[in-house]
Amino acid sequence: MTFAETVREILADASKAPERPTPGNLAERISREAERYLDRVRFDSAQYVRHPVLLWDDWEVMIIGWESGQLTPVHDHRGVLGGMAMLSGSLLEERFMTPGLVPRLADSRIRPEGDLCDIGPTTLHRLISKTPRAVSLHIYRPPLRTMGIWDERGMIEIRPSTFDVGEEVLARAAATPAGARC
Ligand SMILES: [Fe+2]
Repeated sequence: MTFAETVREILADASKAPERPTPGNLAERISREAERYLDRVRFDSAQYVRHPVLLWDDWEVMIIGWESGQLTPVHDHRGVLGGMAMLSGSLLEERFMTPGLVPRLADSRIRPEGDLCDIGPTTLHRLISKTPRAVSLHIYRPPLRTMGIWDERGMIEIRPSTFDVGEEVLARAAATPAGARC
């Protein structure tokens, strides 16, 4: 079974449960599966690397490989609900309020390995890698197609959300069967 098929099964199972599944409460289960694929995650000294894992139904799952100091712009998710799990390394997350429609830092916290968090539909934030390498898992519902990009003047652009590698890197990868490793 490929990584994408495994994640799809987790999402399908969760959708049958009485509680409506959210990205935040699925992050832990999917992150346990993602451990098997960490050695396939790519890094680039020029820019963090966004890997597609699954676009299915009303869900998106993505993994990002970070090198030290790489950072996102300040961005919002256009009303999409998100969840994040730290698979390895640490990120600094800065969250912003928007008094007068310009960003003002409201909260800053380290997200260490194993950290799980919800990212609400109105969250405005940025992420900064704080370890030599870091890997984070992101889940969105519905899929994140666009993001609002902000600077000190306010929102300056609505930018498509894109991937940096093809799905053959992670989504189509199959886990090594138990016992196959020496
Ligand atoms: Fe984000």
